[in-house]
Order: sequence, then structure tokens, then C-alpha cells
Amino acid sequence: MSSKSEPIPGISDLFPEETNQWQYLEGNARDMFSKYSIGEIRTPIFERTDVFLRSIGDETDIVQKEMYTFKDRGDRSLTLRPEGTAGVLRAIANKGLSQGDEHRVYYIGPMFRGERPAAGRKRQFHQIGVEYVGKVSPEIDSECIILLLDYLNSIDITDTKLLINTRGVSGDRQQVSAAMLDYYKPHIDHMCEDCQRRYHTNIWRILDCKNDDCKTITNNAPSMIDLISDTSKTYFDSVCDILNHTGVQYEIDPQLVRGLDYYVHTVFEVVSNDIGAQDSIAGGGRYEIQPPGQKHPLNGVGFAMGVERLLLARNANNATTLEGINVDIYIVSLGQPALLKNFDLASSLRKQGFRVLMDLEKRGMKAQMRTANKVNAKITLIRGQSELDKGIILLKNMDDSSQINVKIDELKAAVEAIINRL
Ligand code: HAM
Repeated sequence: MSSKSEPIPGISDLFPEETNQWQYLEGNARDMFSKYSIGEIRTPIFERTDVFLRSIGDETDIVQKEMYTFKDRGDRSLTLRPEGTAGVLRAIANKGLSQGDEHRVYYIGPMFRGERPAAGRKRQFHQIGVEYVGKVSPEIDSECIILLLDYLNSIDITDTKLLINTRGVSGDRQQVSAAMLDYYKPHIDHMCEDCQRRYHTNIWRILDCKNDDCKTITNNAPSMIDLISDTSKTYFDSVCDILNHTGVQYEIDPQLVRGLDYYVHTVFEVVSNDIGAQDSIAGGGRYEIQPPGQKHPLNGVGFAMGVERLLLARNANNATTLEGINVDIYIVSLGQPALLKNFDLASSLRKQGFRVLMDLEKRGMKAQMRTANKVNAKITLIRGQSELDKGIILLKNMDDSSQINVKIDELKAAVEAIINRL
């Protein structure tokens, strides 16, 4: 039976042993994005429901089954963001984007989907995402893909596959839909209930169905590339040319349409070979989104990576493990006068850049030393009344257990000598 202090299934608490891994991924992402001149955007965690409804699409699993939607006291329908793109586009539209302008932004934060929890599938999960908004070109799509791979490399995730496909443009929709309706007509009675509905409401979503029987039928469906217009084909060929030129390895997956309706042209996904069924670690593509109240759709391209899945992939790849919270110096105080003086000492050592932990419980020497060992301190400084009287401090190098008395004004140099040597 679950205890009442546990979070609900699919939602996790994160402790410092884990958050240090998260900070590593987030820090690397910020560094990488700054090299591409991409700045951070922070949008609200909840929005008016219609921000998501129209852009993500009525027939998608997200809108049909997964959104956390609630009424506030003003009887407004609000939704916890299930993904980042719709809110970012709403924000950019609200700020105003002039013709020919481009916004390049990244975001890092929690997203919410009421999915059945499983390894790598959470109800509150976290995305690191990027959006290039305002311009359309195969070169921009390609740079976006290159950035994603650059980042994954930088965090030692290499055992992956990049899948790409095209969805053509909205002008191609009619001819694509007509060909798909023809193809699925003789099969539809043998497909799942959802697909039978999708056949009438949004045939594209059939391609995304996870049911095994439906997937078998979809495997022989006509390829999107053969159904779209020549202009759309040329656009997709240009993306592939640039990827070939830059040595990016990819596989064209003719059934890849992605689970959101806003995509046009290029769509892509990076799957990991090592993390089980929820193998998509990142997904993205070009899109057209018309935020509520806007007369015209905005164009953009972007991707989002699931942080939980990046961590699974890093662990599976045996990526270099990260250190936990580190303590450079542990301060042992013996007696109240020494403790008071050690507050000043800790503060000045911290100002000098050292990571300092100090006993605040007035415990005996043995107990304080046990903690110094437990936190893996590099140095322990010990001060009681006799050291105070002599203006010295006992410095213990925890690496080799050697001890020396150091004058307070020579302490900084002594500490630095040990820490720099380690
Ligand atoms: P998405 O494919 O729905 O795309 O999500 C992107 C990534 O978020 C997935 O590849 C996966 O790593 C992670 N993810 C999704 N759902 C969960 C979950 N329940 N638990 C854990 N991780 C999950 C989007 O969200 C688009 N907004 C991406 C995009 C940005 N397209 C253009 N710009």
C-alpha cells in the first residue's frame, strides 16, 4: 500500500543525488544553446486550455486523454502545459513578431500528461526544448537537428538513431488524406476503435496508433514522400542533402508523423537503443501554429528532449558518473567560543570559493569527525579553546590523514595547496 507522503504515481521527488545529474544536463544545455545564440524563454506552467486545444489537435492522444484541465474560480478552463511549443508560440505572438523577424529560444521545465506511468513515462516529466520561430527554410530545420545531436553528444548519449520524415504542407493534406482513406478502407473494420474513429475525424492519427494490429496494417501504407507535392518533396530533399553534407546519420521513417497535429514539412525523432519501450528521447519538427486571437499562423521548427529519458540513456550508456554534492572543508568546533569564531571562518572560506560544511550541533569530537568522513570532506579544520588561544587551527588532510597546525592568516594558502593537489 502506498504511503500518504508519497507523490501520486508518475510524479517524483528529486533529491540532491539526482538533482546534480539534472543540473549537469541543464548546464550543458545552456552552454550549448548559447553557442547557437539561443536565449531562454520562461512561459507559464498553466495556460488557457484553448492555447493547447487547437495547436496540438483535437484528435491527438494528448488532447483526448492526457491533459490536466481544471476550472479556476473565475470559471476559466485552464490546463497544465502538456508540452512547451504551444505556450512559447502564444508568448511570441503576444509580444508581437514582425514580418521577417526570428526568435530563437530554449526552455527547460516540467510538463504534465496523464499517461499510464511506466519506466521513462511520467505524469510530470521535464523537457529541454528549443524553438526557432518566424522563418521557414530547410537550412533552419537542418541546424535544429544538428544542434540536437551536438547536445546529445556533449552529454555522452551516442547509442541512438535519428529518424526523419516529412508531412508536407497544409496544401498537400487533401491529396494525402484521400490516398490514406483509400488505403485504409478495406482494413478499417479490423482496426481498433480509436482508429475507426480517426478514420473519419483525422486519418493522420492512424499512423501513430500503438496497437499491434493497426501497426501491421500501417506498415504497408503508402509513404508520405510519395503522396506530397513536388515542392514539399524538394524541401525535404534539401534537408536530407544538408544532413548528408554535414555527415549526420539518419534513417527516413515513412510512417513517422509524430503525435501532435501542428507539424508540417520535416519531422524527426531520436530514439535510444538502450532504454526499453519508451525509447524516444527527443522529438521535433517544423510546425504552423495559430495561437488564439491571432489572424495568421506562426511558423517555426524545434524539438524537445525528455530529461528523465536522457538520464536513462546516459546511465545505460555508462556515461561518466557525476560527483554528488562535494564538501571541500568540514569544520569541527570544540566549545561555544570556537563555534562562534568558526562562523566567521566558514563565511570567509566560502567567500574564497570553498564548499564548507560546519558542525552546528555542538557534538563531541568523534561524532563530528564521523560526519567529516561521511561527507567525504577533503580537509577537516579543528578548533577548540587552546587553538583559539594560540591563533592557530588544526588542519587534517583527509586524503592521507596527516595533521598540521596552521596560523589563521596562512590558512588560505595551506588549504589551496591541498585542494589544488587533489
Ligand atoms: P513530444 O514527442 O510529445 O514532442 O515530446 C518530446 C519528448 O518529451 C519525448 O521525446 C520524450 O523524451 C519526452 N516525453 C514526452 N512525454 C513524456 C512522458 N510522459 N514522460 C517522460 N518523457 C516524456 C513535444 O512535446 C513537442 N513539443 C516537441 C517539439 C518542440 N516540436 C517542435 N518543437
